[in-house]
Amino acid sequence: MSNVVIAGQHILLPDLTEELTTEEGALCLPADESERRSFLDEHGAGVKVAVTSSFAGFDADLMDALPDLELIANFGVGYDSTDVEAASERGITVSNTPDVLNDGVADLGVGLIIDVLRGISASDRFARAGKWKNGAFPLQREVTGRRVGILGLGRIGQEVATRLEGFRCEIGYHNRNEVETSYRYFGGAEELAGWSEVLVVLTPGGAATKALVDADVLAALGPEGYLVNIARGTVVDEDALVQALNDATIAGAGLDVYPNEPNINEALMALDNVVLTPHIASGTRETRRAMADTVLENVRTWLADGRAVTPVN
Ligand code: DGY
Repeated sequence: MSNVVIAGQHILLPDLTEELTTEEGALCLPADESERRSFLDEHGAGVKVAVTSSFAGFDADLMDALPDLELIANFGVGYDSTDVEAASERGITVSNTPDVLNDGVADLGVGLIIDVLRGISASDRFARAGKWKNGAFPLQREVTGRRVGILGLGRIGQEVATRLEGFRCEIGYHNRNEVETSYRYFGGAEELAGWSEVLVVLTPGGAATKALVDADVLAALGPEGYLVNIARGTVVDEDALVQALNDATIAGAGLDVYPNEPNINEALMALDNVVLTPHIASGTRETRRAMADTVLENVRTWLADGRAVTPVN
């Protein structure tokens, strides 16, 4: 009997899977539905800890198949793919990996801003296609001095803002509540977008923020405005975004996240004023190792004395 199972092991850091299996005796939940059912019948009872990731998630049915489950340790800061309400109802603690990915995610956010405003990826395609011979690449926009609105100024947003201060950008933000900062506060997403030249989405995912960036917010951002999303795909109304990009009612977008990962809307892929990365914001060796260490700390502290170091519920 094992105390620990891993769900979605194919998308976990391989080193973490290795450490959990060799040092904690963890078993991997099969991805195949029928194999999973017989695995749960055989090994479900007695499992106290499940490790999952922001990409895999954990639903109420899986919780019910593990009657002794006490902790779900999420590899990731965002936990919208785990049903935290169902976990709380069942007395199950959920933990995540906060803080250790702030730098990695902020770096990519700034990278997307620079790329989409300066056309780095687009000009790379232009150069490789041999188009330079026929004329220069179109003029781009400078990052320096831009007004940047951060939708969701938390710890990652603060890191993005600090980096952009180096570019002499003006920073504004919208949160549900005003926080203590010198950055300019806006009472709503639309007001923030109306002021911003670049709108960076950093809110958590989930029902509360679904399609928060809608057609009205994009219209407020305007034809000179850029959208960068490094939070969750669900926060942006994707149909409205495709329409705004096609109609040039916004200037461009840098996206790391999508509503239906790992699928990316074909309409976005066809556009040259969009930079697309496959949810890699936390995907550095440094960050993923630190996330793995936080997961291990939660698992081990729980097994030793029934306590999580970074609980979310
Ligand atoms: C997170 O931690 O929530 C990230 O989105 C995963 O890279």
